Amino acid sequence: VTTPEFTLCDGLRAAREDRADSPAARLAFPRLAREFGTPLYVYDRGVIETQYDALRSAFAARFRRLRIFYAVKANTNVALIRFLHRRGAGAEVVSRGETFLSRTAGVPPGAILFSSSSKSPDEIADAVANGILLNVDSMDELEQIAEQASSAATTAAISFRVNPGVDPDTLHKINTGISESKFGVHLEGGLALEAYRRAAALPGLRIAGLHAHVGSQIVDPAGHVETLRRLLAFARELKERLGVVLDFVDVGGGLGIPYEDGQKVMSADDLAAALAPVWSEGTRALGYEPELWVEPGRFFVGPSGVLLARVNSVKRTPVRTFLNVDAGFNTLMRPSMYGAYHRVRVVGRAAPDEIVDVAGDVCETGDLLAEGRRLPRAAAGDLVVFLDAGAYGFAMTSEYNARPLPAEVLVDGDEAVLIRRRGTFEELLRSQIPPGRFS
Ligand SMILES: Cc1ncc(COP(=O)(O)O)c(C=O)c1O
Repeated sequence: VTTPEFTLCDGLRAAREDRADSPAARLAFPRLAREFGTPLYVYDRGVIETQYDALRSAFAARFRRLRIFYAVKANTNVALIRFLHRRGAGAEVVSRGETFLSRTAGVPPGAILFSSSSKSPDEIADAVANGILLNVDSMDELEQIAEQASSAATTAAISFRVNPGVDPDTLHKINTGISESKFGVHLEGGLALEAYRRAAALPGLRIAGLHAHVGSQIVDPAGHVETLRRLLAFARELKERLGVVLDFVDVGGGLGIPYEDGQKVMSADDLAAALAPVWSEGTRALGYEPELWVEPGRFFVGPSGVLLARVNSVKRTPVRTFLNVDAGFNTLMRPSMYGAYHRVRVVGRAAPDEIVDVAGDVCETGDLLAEGRRLPRAAAGDLVVFLDAGAYGFAMTSEYNARPLPAEVLVDGDEAVLIRRRGTFEELLRSQIPPGRFS
């Protein structure tokens, strides 16, 4: 039981501020582990609110006509989607499942943007039937959408995701704006112009906008600025050559967050301030002002979340010391997938004095959640906290090694609400069918 002086959120804040040995952290994390078990995702509602409000006020102060979407892929828990939607965000989705979860969270079809580079016929039909805006990624897909809209005797609103050929300087695997990426219709070679020309000629389509998303975990505004410049120049070409007037221009998401101590990243305000002059100049030249759309995922939810895990054992070898914890790349994929860095705190232990690797419980050599970290000396049973795990954390979990999925908890002040119960062994079997005559 926490004393009234320290709420659960005080404990979370203490861990973020590298005070995991403080009384607040020593009370909060064991309490969460006792009540909900480990591994456990814990989200601080106040942080999501702060992040959302920071972005909204930075952009609303500079862009008269603004619409904000939450890129649901970052964390698909409906409690978080609903929370962000109630604060004003629409949903940017990349699958029919994400549409389903967004609708379940209360997002109406008119506030959903469907944006994947590989949409199935079923996904296209569902979006068209429900009046969800489709962000088109290829000419082939465009023809399929037009056909679907015609056969459903309806009109599909579309935008194109264009590939602007901009390198925003981020990790290669999450760099989507460069020419060799699989995303978008290239501005290069007149391909995007051709796509809009074709869209204008096809029945069953209404051109609504223009979109680009150049990557994730971007820490400097330069890539977004160059992207917006190219988008607005292209919007002008669309108007002059095809007579197309756009409802919106979407600059994507991609705002980075600091994962490392002292890491310098652009703020929402830095980004908005850098985009504003390009916007005023570009829209003046354009002769009209579309809505500006922005669709972050990580920025809203990443800093709010931690992954709480327990040390199963400590192994000292002649070369390395391993903290073996009860989470692995099936729980937090980013370190193995991208070589990503998450700060690690050991709860209730002071004074870092040992270089360790934090190893996961998956049977793979590559299952290291953190390498070469100077941490306090930990023992079996200790709790460790991985910071900034709210985005692309739970969303990328799997049941690999037959480990049920972790639970998720939303914390507000001193209250913790379970928003996903821990997976069960029965769930490992939920969709398996005994082979009958082959067994
Ligand atoms: C089209 C699109 N929009 C938005 C995002 C969100 O990116 P981030 O979480 O970096 O803001 C992504 C991420 O991949 C995306 O593909």
